[in-house]
Amino acid sequence: MSDRLYIFDTTLRDGEQVPGCQLNTVEKIEVARQLEALGVDVIEAGFPMASPVDLNSVVEISKAVTWPTICALTRAVEKDIDVAAEALQYAKHKRIHTGIGTSESHIKYKFNATPEEIIERAAAAVKYAKRFVEDVEFYAEDAGRTDNEYLARVVDAVVKAGATVVNIPDTTGFRLPTEYGEKIKYLMEHVDGLSAGKAILSTHCHNDLGMATANTLAGAINGARQVEVTINGIGERAGNTSLEEVVMALKTHPYLGIETNINTQKIYPISRMVSSLMNMPVQPNKAVVGKNAFAHSSGIHQDGVLKNAETYEIMDPKMVGIDDNAIVLTARSGRAALKHRLKVNGVEMDGEKLDQLYKKFLQIADQKKEVTDDDILVLAGAHRAETRNVKLDYLQVTTGKGVRSVASIGLKIAGECFEAASSGNGPVDAAIKALRCIIKREMTLKEFTIQAISKGSDDMGKVHMQVEYDGILYYGFGANTDIVTASVEAYLDCINKFKS
Ligand code: KIV
Ligand code: ZN
Repeated sequence: MSDRLYIFDTTLRDGEQVPGCQLNTVEKIEVARQLEALGVDVIEAGFPMASPVDLNSVVEISKAVTWPTICALTRAVEKDIDVAAEALQYAKHKRIHTGIGTSESHIKYKFNATPEEIIERAAAAVKYAKRFVEDVEFYAEDAGRTDNEYLARVVDAVVKAGATVVNIPDTTGFRLPTEYGEKIKYLMEHVDGLSAGKAILSTHCHNDLGMATANTLAGAINGARQVEVTINGIGERAGNTSLEEVVMALKTHPYLGIETNINTQKIYPISRMVSSLMNMPVQPNKAVVGKNAFAHSSGIHQDGVLKNAETYEIMDPKMVGIDDNAIVLTARSGRAALKHRLKVNGVEMDGEKLDQLYKKFLQIADQKKEVTDDDILVLAGAHRAETRNVKLDYLQVTTGKGVRSVASIGLKIAGECFEAASSGNGPVDAAIKALRCIIKREMTLKEFTIQAISKGSDDMGKVHMQVEYDGILYYGFGANTDIVTASVEAYLDCINKFKS
């Protein structure tokens, strides 16, 4: 058996299912290109049957990348498989990922079927997908809670039907590492097609009990040859297995003899980029890529690290692309310094785009002593927002103690200017009421959080919002040194995403 472990990244499918993390096609292409540079083997680009937007993303990602296999998810349903095959038409290497629930509760409550019927449907879906592509992966949803003996019969049937990879998801994140490892071992020992090398097993572990990385490693140690992961571990509920954790665990334990194709120095830039595009902060104590992952604060640790980094560091931050000789950005920094810091944070920018961003950078730098990585990522995000249909032209607010706040606002909608004014119970209320005098839709503000990016009264404020419109929840984000402007930007971000 080969010791090469294939990395299957599902940031753009399972990761993107997280509320508020949706990306547009251009952003998905940006992530896919970085995943290719990172060295992932498979990119799960979407679930084409879910929506025309998902279908289009799979088409465009297929055109944009060359080396990785592009994978599209389906249910074990012919129509889904037809649509996935169509979406994959431009992929140089393509895979259909089809499957069905195999646990007792899925069979009984989701499908109202018998275990034998599920095996038939599973094998039929694989055979149908084989009409379109050679490379077919089958997932046994909720395999974590599926009886091993029955699961082995399912795996045997789909391998005989032509599956090249069989995914064993711990969909609910329930299993302990020993149990999950034993499941993989059991399948390796009881399915002839696996020992004969006709197919490989894949892990797909969710993190509901914080076991995703440990379970994935247990799977790989027991014979799985593909692992399904996401950048920063994003995904449904508590998330998926994080790519950076698995890759660095294997790298720091070379005696396991399991190798990946990942260029580890690209880990930090892509982590920052995904976090910024998805407006999904990385927790400071997150393994490998968190802000504090390499920060030593206690005196004893600092003393040890200064004498020799190995005393308290199991890996060199440079191995994952963390540039500790950070160039500090101030109002005196030039374009080259800005370009460098953007690159360290996973954003490649040049020419006119860089010039435009540099102007905005100077405005922020005039207001703050030091411009942080978070600030420039927010700026890069705000820069992307400029292509949107409804834009904030100006905003003026008067507020204070003992007076009612008053706001006047100017919006540009498809190039045309609209103005309105309103009073309100505080500056944000006044500004949003003024905005709603222009955009007269029935929408309700559901959630509103304000956060400072780092520290200091000159800091940028980040606003996350949820607005309900036409029965759908939309997530918006805004950032500015003025939190009222950030709030209006977040509201507009929601409005720009309205589907009708
Ligand atoms: O968690 C899961 O079971 C999945 C499958 C659709 C692969 O995401
Ligand atoms: Zn999943």
